Amino acid sequence: MKTIHSIDALRQALADSRTTSFVPTMGNLHEGHLALVREARRRGGPVVASIFVNRLQFAPHEDFDRYPRTLARDCALLESAGCDIVFAPDERELYPQAQAYVVRPDPALAGILEGEFRPGFFGGVCTVVLKLLSCVQPATAVFGKKDYQQWKVVGRMVEQFALPVRIVGGETVRAEDGLALSSRNGYLSADERARATGLSRVLARIRDASAAGATDFAAQESAALAELRDAGWAPDYVSVRRQVDLRAPGSGDRADSVPLVVLGAARLGTTRLIDNMEVRHRYVSSLRSGRP
Ligand code: PAF
Repeated sequence: MKTIHSIDALRQALADSRTTSFVPTMGNLHEGHLALVREARRRGGPVVASIFVNRLQFAPHEDFDRYPRTLARDCALLESAGCDIVFAPDERELYPQAQAYVVRPDPALAGILEGEFRPGFFGGVCTVVLKLLSCVQPATAVFGKKDYQQWKVVGRMVEQFALPVRIVGGETVRAEDGLALSSRNGYLSADERARATGLSRVLARIRDASAAGATDFAAQESAALAELRDAGWAPDYVSVRRQVDLRAPGSGDRADSVPLVVLGAARLGTTRLIDNMEVRHRYVSSLRSGRP
């Protein structure tokens, strides 16, 4: 595996490849990232992973400065997962001048949920992803569905700019107790880590009720928010949305006709966690699996 720090050297290394598979990351990797690298490996072509903590997607009060930088450990993990090239530019390489040309993603998709609580976040993500795609020029890029809205926003950007890349969503990897793996889990104290399953638990309950045909989404969301508050969380949102556009389901939308996803974000102490679960309706799942 090669580690490359400059755009020129990356382009030279990939000059003959039209089949590159790409996994963008901010480093501090865990099994969830490695699953994305393995997914990229299955898609064929050389596998490139980038490691770059992107200042543009952090608000001034957020954790840009303390975000863990663990390049040597990350490279060892990436090599074990079958990555061919790590692209690890520094800020001077990726942003040699202040990045004055930026992407403004559609507020209808990027201004809701995470976008409401982290204004500017998806603009920063889209700007760096566009630039990374321009550097790597992959045939496929794999994004974790753990960041469900990010996956959707990037997919829409690629569609709107007709970028020649296929965006693939990789499944969320969870700890045994259900907590979605995230670099930010490392901020949790031992006590908070023990309580951190509260978020996935309320999402799973709504997912299961929706899969069984429930449509009282507002009542379920309120109950989940109350349960999280009682357990010492400060929730930003828990919300059932349509998978396709992350809009709230209409009165006639049920999980058997419209694919739904339950999303949540909440703070435990100073750590903000996000998670989501797609609703697999029994009827839809049995059709997919070919069972009656
Ligand atoms: O999901 C992440 O780690 C980041 O948002 C990404 C896609 C690497 C852009 O900085």
